[in-house]
Amino acid sequence: MLGNRHESAPILGDKALRAAINNDYERAGQAEKTRVSESTAICQCMQVTDHEIEEAVLEGVRTFDELQERTKISSMCGKCEGQVRILIHDYIRKHF
Ligand code: FES
Repeated sequence: MLGNRHESAPILGDKALRAAINNDYERAGQAEKTRVSESTAICQCMQVTDHEIEEAVLEGVRTFDELQERTKISSMCGKCEGQVRILIHDYIRKHF
């Protein structure tokens, strides 16, 4: 589906985009890469969720600094930094 997207096709909302990505993974025999809809706030201070981190990785983020610039994650108390770095690594391994 995503590979056939046409210039005039409507932009998908977050839920529709996630459903399309999950559908593509399932059809490709990679159901382990699909994601359920519940999210968890990883950074309590800035209210950034695991799903937002995963989406950022899917859209090209590869480092903690890139993610922080994009989302302001870990810019207050900083106690989430270790978990954020692990998640970035895990999502890169999951998708690439
Ligand atoms: S929990 Fe992320 S900056 Fe405080």
